[in-house]
Amino acid sequence: MLISPSMLSSDFSRLGEEARRIDRAGADLIHLDVMDGNFVSTITFGAQVISSIRPYTEKFFDVHMMVAQPQHQVGPLARAGANGITFHLEAEGDPAETIRFIHLAGCRAGVALKPATPVESLFPFLPDLDLVLVMTVEPGAGGQKFIPSMLEKVRAVRARARAMGLSIPVEIDGGVTFETVGQAARAGVDICVSGTTVFGAQNPAEAIQTLKQIAAEAAAEQP
Ligand code: DX5
Ligand code: ZN
Repeated sequence: MLISPSMLSSDFSRLGEEARRIDRAGADLIHLDVMDGNFVSTITFGAQVISSIRPYTEKFFDVHMMVAQPQHQVGPLARAGANGITFHLEAEGDPAETIRFIHLAGCRAGVALKPATPVESLFPFLPDLDLVLVMTVEPGAGGQKFIPSMLEKVRAVRARARAMGLSIPVEIDGGVTFETVGQAARAGVDICVSGTTVFGAQNPAEAIQTLKQIAAEAAAEQP
């Protein structure tokens, strides 16, 4: 299990140092939540802020766009140093075209699904995707409660991808804690985003290690 700590739960007055701190704590990727005040009600940061964080770490920037018009942001985010760019299927624009723009910009392309969106709606795009992000809370805020039924979507994506001969990592985002990471591992989740659990911990390195250990033990219990 890879852990992608979400900068949303970090100290926004010192984002660069926070990125470096979480890198040294053993983050596998760094999750950056771009919110536009339109697709979700909050505004966080965009390409300009991400480019100023970029020099503080070499870790993979896992950018999660919660924006109404993702196509406008792809170029700026790629130039800012995003490695992976994930957009919401519920946002404006033709998803196949947005995926193409992300690839043309030199990034890995991911699609995210809100809890109410049926998983089947992303199946047509699977062959072109490098990541599927299943939201396990409503997008917009950290610290919410995990929705366990979303793990059915994870199982469905994995089954469908396998049937199509594809191997696509599945990420979940929202409510990942020491209590919920085990069920995620059993459902076959590859990457867990974690905001509160990691940044809220006294010792983030220990929190990342514990999440990974619980995930490994849960996965090993599988028949
Ligand atoms: C929610 C964001 C998440 C958020 C997760 O809209 O996409 O990345 O930071 O935070 P936790 O882990 O606290 O649920
Ligand atoms: Zn996110």
